[in-house]
Amino acid sequence: MNELAQKVRGSFLEKFNREPVMISSPGRINLIGEHTDYNEGFVLPGATDRAIILAVAPRKDDICRFYACDFNQDFSTSLGHLQKSDLHWPDYVQGVLAVFLQAGYQIRGLDLAFGGNVPIGGGMSSSAAIEGGLAFALNHLYDLKLDGLTLAKLAQQAENDFVGVKCGIMDMFANLFGQAKRVIKLDCRSLEFEYYPFEWEEIRVVISDSLVRRALATSEYNLRRQQCEAGVNLLKKYYPEIKSLRDVTVTRLVAHQTELDPVVFKRCLYVIKENQRVEQACQDLLQRDLISFGQRMYESHLGLRNEYEVSSRELDLLVESAARVEGVYGSRMMGAGFGGCTISLMRSEAVKSFNERVSADYREATGQEPAIHVVRIEAGTHVIK
Ligand code: GLA
Repeated sequence: MNELAQKVRGSFLEKFNREPVMISSPGRINLIGEHTDYNEGFVLPGATDRAIILAVAPRKDDICRFYACDFNQDFSTSLGHLQKSDLHWPDYVQGVLAVFLQAGYQIRGLDLAFGGNVPIGGGMSSSAAIEGGLAFALNHLYDLKLDGLTLAKLAQQAENDFVGVKCGIMDMFANLFGQAKRVIKLDCRSLEFEYYPFEWEEIRVVISDSLVRRALATSEYNLRRQQCEAGVNLLKKYYPEIKSLRDVTVTRLVAHQTELDPVVFKRCLYVIKENQRVEQACQDLLQRDLISFGQRMYESHLGLRNEYEVSSRELDLLVESAARVEGVYGSRMMGAGFGGCTISLMRSEAVKSFNERVSADYREATGQEPAIHVVRIEAGTHVIK
């Protein structure tokens, strides 16, 4: 058991005075395919060695007691009184309990302590790590025999309905299905998936956290969804077979450009092209062509910046600075955007100059230090023995 898990276990023992089950639930990266999941498109995520650790034990009554180690905050409620809290973090936990109850699973209260090293609200999906981790924990504690996909959908429902972010399934899927040294190409329509090897000794995945968090992320995220739906609704009139942007080609979109709101047009164009980029990037991986893969990451960033408009000055700075470092293949903002982090792919010997250069550029432009993490692609949520 690593130091982090020991610490969370220690807090649990101190608070609740009994033995917990220990679960490790990772944050995710996404190499490419951003804002495509809720458009029934493709994504290429993986689970990482950054995780939320949950120490959990079931109760015989309906009382729920949670302790967030990283904030040193307690929260208690009961299964009959699950409701949103000003502390925010309890919502991810309560949301999962609420959807399990609603689905009719026989669960009772629980004692939970959790903490981790996934940057919070930083684009690595710390929220899905709590939700996926707890869904996994309930399945384990009550022997519910639910498969990974059902757990991912329940965790997504917690975020959609309880927390109120209309996110897609990518984060929870990566959290539960991740494997070491492999990324997942997920078809977010059929939910069929394929693992792609990602095991180069000489390559590093580096996360640069702008440390900027913007409250508008939720409202703008939900607005992007509506804009994509508006595009689909118009095109459906001409092509009734269209169900989502997944079914739209650039040619068809352009043919109806004048009828579409210009903003809606840009949003749709980005999504269609991003889906194509994921398909091409997977071919690059098979051919071990990281130069081409990296170019697609830069193109993805430009699309997110100019067409989808979810980047920020800080994220653009990080990507531009990364591009100047020798040995970097590609870089782009990752996750929902409006703050959070970038992901960069580079040769291992570039990490040092990347660190120096990107930190210096960012400091000079913003007066702040970014947080830079080298991450490994690791197994998804599991019980710690
Ligand atoms: C957030 C959401 C995901 C996905 C990304 C953008 O992480 O939770 O479902 O939409 O944004 O790709």
